[in-house]
Amino acid sequence: MAKVYDRTNQKEVPESELIPYLAAHGIHYEYWPIDRLPDSLRTQKTLSAEEQSQVIAAFAPELQRMSRDYGYISHDVVVLNTVSTPNLDELLANFERFHRHSEDEVRFIVDGAGVFTLEREGDLFDVTVYAGDLISVPRGTRHYFTLTETRNVKAIRLFQTREGWVAIYDEEAVS
Ligand SMILES: [Fe+2]
Repeated sequence: MAKVYDRTNQKEVPESELIPYLAAHGIHYEYWPIDRLPDSLRTQKTLSAEEQSQVIAAFAPELQRMSRDYGYISHDVVVLNTVSTPNLDELLANFERFHRHSEDEVRFIVDGAGVFTLEREGDLFDVTVYAGDLISVPRGTRHYFTLTETRNVKAIRLFQTREGWVAIYDEEAVS
């Protein structure tokens, strides 16, 4: 289950208020049953193409529903950790600067954790997502992404366009 830290008011959002808090800030959140995936497949640090397909197949009903309801046309599996990602720091440097996207940034966390820092409705807050959490960062939202101390995340990414992950950084934004 995700955790939210409200930076504006400098306080953790209690678990019971998490869903209403995210909804009030326009963030779509879902929890999918992660135990559907064998632990070995979920936690291994590298995934072959075949294993990535198995991860996606395990959540086919949910992915099909998301595609139907929100128009996602493709998905893939991203794996970031200190074992399988030799250029991890370089990649993270791109994610850790404030940016926006022209489509929703949708991630379903399969293993590990990640932190989305979001600016919405005048508030700045951190959403830490863990295995089973799906978050959709609405298009145009100013945000950045970091890993936790474990520096490990495996996630399914859903895309509305064929371009994949394209960031518009603050300094490139038209004011
Ligand atoms: Fe992003």
